[in-house]
Amino acid sequence: MESPLAHSIMDRAVKRGLLSYELIDLRQYGTGKHHQIDDYQYGGGSGMVMMCEPMAQCIEELSLKREYDEIIFMTPDGERYSQAMANGLSLKKNIMLIAGHYKGLDERIREKYVTKEISIGDYVLSGGELPAAVVIDSIGRLIPGVLNDETSALSDSFQDGLLSPPVYTRPSDWRGHKVPEVLLSGHEAKIEEWRQKQAEDRTHSRRPDLLEG
Ligand code: ADE
Repeated sequence: MESPLAHSIMDRAVKRGLLSYELIDLRQYGTGKHHQIDDYQYGGGSGMVMMCEPMAQCIEELSLKREYDEIIFMTPDGERYSQAMANGLSLKKNIMLIAGHYKGLDERIREKYVTKEISIGDYVLSGGELPAAVVIDSIGRLIPGVLNDETSALSDSFQDGLLSPPVYTRPSDWRGHKVPEVLLSGHEAKIEEWRQKQAEDRTHSRRPDLLEG
């Protein structure tokens, strides 16, 4: 969990005090000699389940430190994550993200504490840590001041429901492949019109589902 947050934009944001995070190792709340945090599932079946008590103690201890706006469980059977959800979460003050492991988390914890369940896509990862890092990064870059140019998060793909148009940098002729003429024209309105059209065409061909409704 340290490394995805320890570089470039997120690292700078933390150092500048724009966001902070605390990583908790659940094992410190485990019971017995081996700090057990998982157990066999009732009814049989393969895969271990994360136990109630260590998780409950962890959540309750953290909740004494600060008030949480959301307690989110990262799980493939959660609501599909989207830019709209990231936008909403970026307005909250404190968020707790629970990274599931093994077969899952005892359902009673989900019922008692969890306020939202998020999946980052229809595939299964071996744990919720990477999904949690994805959520932190996507929220973090929306916090004012985190990106150098605040408008750049607004022009991201998905912010206007469209994919981003293609971009180019120097040279204008690279091995015979030329940058579209309009981008060199200096004509702002024409450039904006071209970008809009490219974004629409790209969305239409790659992600027609985004245009529905
Ligand atoms: N844990 C394992 N797979 C996941 C996914 N796709 N989204 C969120 N949490 C997960």
